[in-house]
Amino acid sequence: MESPIVELDLPGWGQAEPHAEWTRAVESGKVLLFPRLAFELEPDERALLREDMLAPGSRNVSLGADGVLKGAGGSAQEQARLAAMVGRFRAQALALVDGLFPEYRGALRVAPTSFRPRRVETRRQSVRADDKRLHVDAFPTRPNYGERILRVFANVNPDGAPRVWRVGADFESVARQFLPRAKPYSRWQAKALQALHVTKSLRSEYDHLMLQLHDLMKRDETYQTQGTQWRAPFPAGSCWVCYSDAAVHAVMSGQYMMEQTLHLPPGREVNPAASPLQILTRLVGRPLVGVEAGAEKLS
Ligand code: SIN
Ligand code: FE
Repeated sequence: MESPIVELDLPGWGQAEPHAEWTRAVESGKVLLFPRLAFELEPDERALLREDMLAPGSRNVSLGADGVLKGAGGSAQEQARLAAMVGRFRAQALALVDGLFPEYRGALRVAPTSFRPRRVETRRQSVRADDKRLHVDAFPTRPNYGERILRVFANVNPDGAPRVWRVGADFESVARQFLPRAKPYSRWQAKALQALHVTKSLRSEYDHLMLQLHDLMKRDETYQTQGTQWRAPFPAGSCWVCYSDAAVHAVMSGQYMMEQTLHLPPGREVNPAASPLQILTRLVGRPLVGVEAGAEKLS
């Protein structure tokens, strides 16, 4: 099987141009790696690369579209500097995506931007929350009905430490492997979860299956150690882009990363047939998001 990492030689954030083969690659679950695309820090931002810039109990620092910074530690002055730094990354990440994928213009929804100062190696988490295990991203509380999760990452480690990922085989092979073990969808249970405010809206069968894949993969020791996978060290000073709902991934080591998520409505891809929604729909043989999706979104 060919490597899921596609290395591309782009010199600047604002210099991206569309290439049909890059779009096809990212939409089929590959990771686009830009080794020369560094997020440059201002001299007075170097001091913000500290673990205690994270507030106790937070997983990462995030900057909302409204400019409000959440989860940050440090002094008020440091937080203001950090907000400016994260905001600058957001602008560069959006310019990159706009240049690479003009087909998505007007359709993307920009999620908060994050700064992740924690060291991956020493993080202790439950199996389900452990991103050191191969998984596809799926949200337990926010059903998305097939909306895509496009992510831009930048390794800003000041000591040259790579951010090391493992990347798995293509979504369809992994889905074929785990779907037979997925618990059947229960609409009754989805309604109960919504009534209890565990989910923010009714979990669709699509959301249920994505969570099942996420959990089954993470729990499968043999898959984790022996399943088809590639080691992907993303160098300090590089940037990478993937659909994290389709690219099977795990993070093994590294510290200090910037991340921008963008959401694309289902069907707005250049090739919607490569999406997890359409792949799962084909494999299961019935629609996985129903009338509930539209109805719930209105409420
Ligand atoms: C993840 O999305 O699973 C984690 C990515 C990272 O922290 O590098
Ligand atoms: Fe993830």
